[in-house]
Amino acid sequence: MPNIVVIGAQWGDEGKGKIVDLLTEKFDIVARYQGGHNAGHTVIVQGKKFVLHLIPSGILHPGKVCMIGPGVVLDPKAFLSEVKMLEDEGIPVRGNLFVSNRAHLILPYHRVVETAAEAARGDKKIGTTSRGIGPAYEDKTGRRGVRVIDLFDAEVLKEIIFSVTSEKNCLIQTLYKGEALNAQSIYEEYLGYAAQLKEFTVDSAAFLNRQVRAGKRVLFEGAQGTLLDIDHGTYPYVTSSSASAGGACVGTGVAPSLITGAIGIAKAYTTRVGSGPLPTELNGSVGETIRQRGAEYGASTGRPRRCGWFDGPATRYSALINNLQAIALTKLDVLDEFAEIPVCTGYEYRGSKLEEFPAEIRVLDRVRPVYEAVAGWQTKTAGIRSYQELPERAKDYLKLLSDVTETEFSFISTGPDREDTIVVPGSWIAKTL
Ligand code: GDP
Ligand code: IMO
Ligand code: MG
Repeated sequence: MPNIVVIGAQWGDEGKGKIVDLLTEKFDIVARYQGGHNAGHTVIVQGKKFVLHLIPSGILHPGKVCMIGPGVVLDPKAFLSEVKMLEDEGIPVRGNLFVSNRAHLILPYHRVVETAAEAARGDKKIGTTSRGIGPAYEDKTGRRGVRVIDLFDAEVLKEIIFSVTSEKNCLIQTLYKGEALNAQSIYEEYLGYAAQLKEFTVDSAAFLNRQVRAGKRVLFEGAQGTLLDIDHGTYPYVTSSSASAGGACVGTGVAPSLITGAIGIAKAYTTRVGSGPLPTELNGSVGETIRQRGAEYGASTGRPRRCGWFDGPATRYSALINNLQAIALTKLDVLDEFAEIPVCTGYEYRGSKLEEFPAEIRVLDRVRPVYEAVAGWQTKTAGIRSYQELPERAKDYLKLLSDVTETEFSFISTGPDREDTIVVPGSWIAKTL
């Protein structure tokens, strides 16, 4: 039975939400394994738009189980407001949505510390989503985190919140010259979440493993993207979790031997939100055209996304470290108008071709992208649903991207709606799922 990981193969916002929603039909369970409500996953079904932050993108399918694994950092307020949003839309969540008892919580001091730390970095700021994600992971690895399970033991909860708030207040007042937070009111607020979270809370690793043993299929949903991964991304301009495929095992407690493959989601061009290198970035009118045509504004923060041509070396690196069996390529339609479409096929640094994606930010900042341009198709692909109907030049473009990334393309997405998708005949996805 295939258990598949879906990951972002670039810097996030590749269209994971759309593809996870589409794939859910073939699975029994969808499990998020990292990140938090920094993610913004858009799913559009028959014109109706949902933006999911914490809740897996499979939630719109009745009868499927959605799991938030222990690798996720959970803001209870954000979680409950997402539950409410779905219920207001008539989407059932009770009895099919679960949260790991071992997931760590985001607390108000995480957000305060993050905002102050970002301001203190000045022009070196990461450009985070200000959701408290990084500081929550810091406390997790620092072994002073609060887990979902701790909400149900008032004594334990009080002890951790009081001790950590007093540490944070020291930092906030002394280093950042900010105002102290009140531990009692944080404690009361979080104690109040206990009753509301109780019915969602499970031992998720035990649950998932039993389900896998019973022959159920699990789709692991990655948030962010490989180039934002804490270990493999463009550090320090990354998020604080393991967004790549390996994160699925740690973040759910399902062993590597039970995961059968990985699908990467990539856009037909490249975007990034926040700071950090983006070798193919287009700062002028071409970048603006892509931004407008692709509606490239953050689903979580509304920030304009930085846009550039398809970055072959970056996506090839993703394909390598995630061992991608297939890429789902999204937003092909956004390129419909261009007369010529350059693809970055390699990087040069100080006159020499780089063989591997560089680890040094200073090098990545200075590489010269080497481009190969293909003629644009200049006809509408938006909404095309069969491979045969794609213009030949669009097929040439796809062939070049597939060659550059050394990976097969199984899905081609030609619009935001679930239905605007091509399954490439004979491809890995067509054969496996
Ligand atoms: P995610 O974070 O990877 O789930 O991606 P986001 O939801 O943040 O951003 C992707 C955006 O592109 C969303 O607004 C989607 O509705 C939209 N989208 C996804 N696939 C396509 C496509 O093939 N064409 C177009 N035009 N939009 C798409
Ligand atoms: P989805 O799942 C794009 C970026 C932020 C910032 C960096 C660190 O929708 O693809 P953080 O708040 O995580 O500490 O910010 O990571 N970032 C994302 N960029 N898509 C996302 O999620 C992102 N989540 C975080 O912009 O540069
Ligand atoms: Mg997004």
